[in-house]
Amino acid sequence: MAPRNLLDLDDLHAEELMALLERAEAFHRDPSPRQALAGVPVVNLFFEPSTRTQTSFTIAEQRLGAEVVTINPGTSSMVKGETIADTAVTLAAMGVGAIVVRHRESGFPYALARSFPGHVINAGDGTHAHPTQALLDLMTLRQEFGRITGLRVAIVGDIAHSRVARSNIHGLRALGAETVLVGPPTLLPDAMAQPGVRIERDLENVLPNVHAVMLLRIQRERLERALVPSVASYAHEYQLNGRRLRLLREGAIVMHPGPYNRGVELTDEVLEFAGCRYTNQVANGVFARMAVLEALCA
Ligand code: CP
Repeated sequence: MAPRNLLDLDDLHAEELMALLERAEAFHRDPSPRQALAGVPVVNLFFEPSTRTQTSFTIAEQRLGAEVVTINPGTSSMVKGETIADTAVTLAAMGVGAIVVRHRESGFPYALARSFPGHVINAGDGTHAHPTQALLDLMTLRQEFGRITGLRVAIVGDIAHSRVARSNIHGLRALGAETVLVGPPTLLPDAMAQPGVRIERDLENVLPNVHAVMLLRIQRERLERALVPSVASYAHEYQLNGRRLRLLREGAIVMHPGPYNRGVELTDEVLEFAGCRYTNQVANGVFARMAVLEALCA
């Protein structure tokens, strides 16, 4: 039986993950509109800003024939004090079949799922999880290399506060890839090492030995909390730039979930690099989200 919700990738077995990747690839090969979700109202409820995730979920829902509803929490009755539990009951009473939710609090989608009888899809919660981002990242790796098993993937930057890193670590481990986490101790504590997940501090030592490098955005808040002394010091140690690109092995690719900060974690040369797969990732977001919506709601 398919799970009711997608709250993180650790909800899924390797076989379920592979089935989603296969289905996403089928949507990529044939992106024509479908009717799998015809008549199903799907609500997009984003409490945090989003360009990629919200837009691609909307396109995915429309392409599957769903009735798409976008609620702006700032103009909903939640500003009058209606709780998320009461909001969930209210939406269910209207026949809403699924809610796609993003929230700054880790665990918020789990609270919503306890009150909502339909399907909840986590579109990013705090520093906890971003399962559909990890799915589209896995899809991008599989398109490039034809497999996930045996790949070595570096994730570079603010790992400790990254929901993207956390979900990717789950997915990469489940499918047999080796993950190399790279960053300073303030953003990557030693305790994050686990079987299949190694910690490295020196980016230049790592670059020649990996199939893919996934860069993460350095948030301004980290600078304000002095977890990083300055943009210049971070860039000196961990920025991917033209010189460091030349250290990569032949055929290696560079990924970034977006939004990226030019001049911080990467330079313009990285975005112009033939192995940069940022736009492939964005395109795959629609297909990966179609696969999730179909698996849960159809
Ligand atoms: N990658 C990602 O989650 O981007 P958005 O914040 O624009 O959705």
